[in-house]
Amino acid sequence: MPANIVVGTQWGDEGKGKIIDILASRADVVVRSQGGNNAGHTVVNNGEVYKLHLVPSGILYKNTLCLIGAGVVLDPKDFTGELRELESRGISTDNLKIDPRAQIVMPWHIALDGLSESFRGSKDIGTTKRGIGPAYCDKYERCGIRMYDLVHPDILAEKIQSTGTLKNKIITEVYGGEPFDLDAVTKEYTEYGKILAPHMDDVSVLTFNAHKEGKTIMFEGAQATLLDIDFGTYPYVTSSHPLSAGVCVGTGVGPKVITNIIGVAKAYTTRVGKGPFPTELDDEIGDRIRNTGGEFGTTTGRPRRTGWFDAVIVRHSVRVNGLDSLAINKLDTLANIGTLKICVAYKKPDGTVTEHFPPALEELDGCEPIYEEFEGFTEDISDCRTFEELPESCQKYILRLEELVGCHVGMIGVGPDRTQVIER
Ligand code: IMP
Repeated sequence: MPANIVVGTQWGDEGKGKIIDILASRADVVVRSQGGNNAGHTVVNNGEVYKLHLVPSGILYKNTLCLIGAGVVLDPKDFTGELRELESRGISTDNLKIDPRAQIVMPWHIALDGLSESFRGSKDIGTTKRGIGPAYCDKYERCGIRMYDLVHPDILAEKIQSTGTLKNKIITEVYGGEPFDLDAVTKEYTEYGKILAPHMDDVSVLTFNAHKEGKTIMFEGAQATLLDIDFGTYPYVTSSHPLSAGVCVGTGVGPKVITNIIGVAKAYTTRVGKGPFPTELDDEIGDRIRNTGGEFGTTTGRPRRTGWFDAVIVRHSVRVNGLDSLAINKLDTLANIGTLKICVAYKKPDGTVTEHFPPALEELDGCEPIYEEFEGFTEDISDCRTFEELPESCQKYILRLEELVGCHVGMIGVGPDRTQVIER
């Protein structure tokens, strides 16, 4: 039965939410496998706007099982707030399950995220300051607090005392910050544990069984390929694996379960936070794309950096994710921009040309994008529902993009609504 993965192919905010919503409406099970509340997407359902950060988007469908896998880092304060908000609006969260292995974001992770970013000064990463990096650090340092611990008060109290004592030392003695009152943290987090206890279940087993029963599963990616800790623009990346392969380790399913991997890209490129962006437009066209496309972060509200479509990075994503198809969003945003450009390769400082994304920033430094130009368009394409209805210039843009990245474009977004999609 279909088990689809949806991943971002650029630096995030590709409009995965919309593609995920379309696929979630056809899925029995929706699974999140990595990241935390650094992600965010807006779902519009029956005119109601929902801003989700960690709760899988299938939550709006009454019978859909929503799962949060072992690879996720969960901030219980933020998460219980998200649950409360949904319930107050009549959305049941009974079908939501969290793996006992998922790591918990503790308040010192958030504090340390801010303190280490300040310490880096002008070399800061531009994180979302949600404690994501420090929580993953503790996971790999093997001193993390997990969902299982959260719902067992004795284990939780003991772990908060041992880990918290060390964190307080680091916060006060290294950074000169304020220590946490560990008894107050224990009290607060024990309460979150009580709220979340009914939601704990083995996500690996639930996913495996759903697959055996022939159910349709959708794995919703958060963040994106160029933010992957290994295959992104290190160190300007997040601390998890937003790649398709990350779904298997983050959920506890074997790779043979996966039947279809869909990559989502915008018809141009955006990035929030710091780090390299070869096709960035620091000009009036960049401003126009930002304003027309509403390019401001869902999680932090920061204005997004904007630029031309970069076939080098999406080609990289096609390869490292093993994409079956691409969904290209926001083609409508490129109307009335004039001549359009796609970066096809990079020219290195020594004059050689590469079609592959360099593995280190030092190698990317000084690379110049090589562009191909395309006739722009002025038509309103938001009502187009077939490829043939698109203006010829749009068709040419998509067909060449497809050729350049080496992947079929199966969906094209022509407006914000769930229905404003061309399926090919
Ligand atoms: P962190 O994930 O908060 O540690 O931030 C690391 C980098 O990833 C920063 O550049 C963030 O802006 C970026 N980032 C994290 N999550 C998202 C996302 O969901 N969309 C876009 N960028 C993100």
